Amino acid sequence: MTTVERPAPSSSVRLIDTIAGPRVANRTSSDWQHLPYTRFDLEPMAPTIGAVVAGVSMADELDRETFAELNRALLEWKVLFFRKQNLTHPQHAAFARNWGELESHPFARVRSDQPDEPEVLRLEKGPDVVGRENLWHSDVTWRLCPSLGSILRAIELPAVGGDTLFCDMSAAYDCLSDEVKQYVDGMFAVHDWITTFGRGMDPATRDRLRPDFPAVEHPVVRTHPETGRKMLYVNIAFTQHIVGLSQADSDELLAYLYRQASFPEYQCRFKWASGDVAFWDNRSTQHYASSDYFPQRRVMDRITIVGDRPY
Ligand code: SIN
Repeated sequence: MTTVERPAPSSSVRLIDTIAGPRVANRTSSDWQHLPYTRFDLEPMAPTIGAVVAGVSMADELDRETFAELNRALLEWKVLFFRKQNLTHPQHAAFARNWGELESHPFARVRSDQPDEPEVLRLEKGPDVVGRENLWHSDVTWRLCPSLGSILRAIELPAVGGDTLFCDMSAAYDCLSDEVKQYVDGMFAVHDWITTFGRGMDPATRDRLRPDFPAVEHPVVRTHPETGRKMLYVNIAFTQHIVGLSQADSDELLAYLYRQASFPEYQCRFKWASGDVAFWDNRSTQHYASSDYFPQRRVMDRITIVGDRPY
């Protein structure tokens, strides 16, 4: 990978871009969009991201046509929501396997009542553990091949709160100014788990895991392997710095790029109910789990599908 010294973008660009929100309407054009769905009903939640799918039982085997339409819906809407599914762990895993091999999370605590499937990551919050997924992120971008998608299932919910928000990172990229696009296209950034999962770890464990999970470099603008769309691919949880920039310039540019995920124009927000499932395309989205329910319990099971190397 080549390391290039880049000049900082002109200050006029930075000023305009940091004081204003998105300056153009969301662009959603692509060939496969707006084709009808025939195997289920689909109700969009926001102009470019989030749709509720009705008429699919996730517990049942998917036929080829339904799988193909669900995948098209996932690419188009980036996160799909399924109400009242009440899946078992094997059904959850079997549904996910339609999209590929499943990941095990190397840093997950192994619990005595861990569900049978090793691929199920239990996220359990309550009076003793506060929700910490309340920062915009894509899952496991510290992997060389971060996950294709995650499928999250509600197990136990607070009376109110605990919503999950999602952001469309292709819309975020589309709405950057041409000058900023030109500046960031072709850049790479370092992603690492050390500042999150590594923080509370004892040094011996950290050293043991390090060789298997070194810091990795990913493009700042990623191309979606199925749609060909460009997406902003840095996140505040795992991105450390931009290759070839001074720490100060990298921090400034990253702060600007992270801020793009905060615009409601690119977002949808899901209010969970018992039995619900969310399936997001982890390549084109970031998410944020609102941690507003302490000390109530919120228990979720997540399964992630192995993805490919970003380019
Ligand atoms: C996650 O960050 O993967 C979990 C999101 C959630 O618990 O809503």
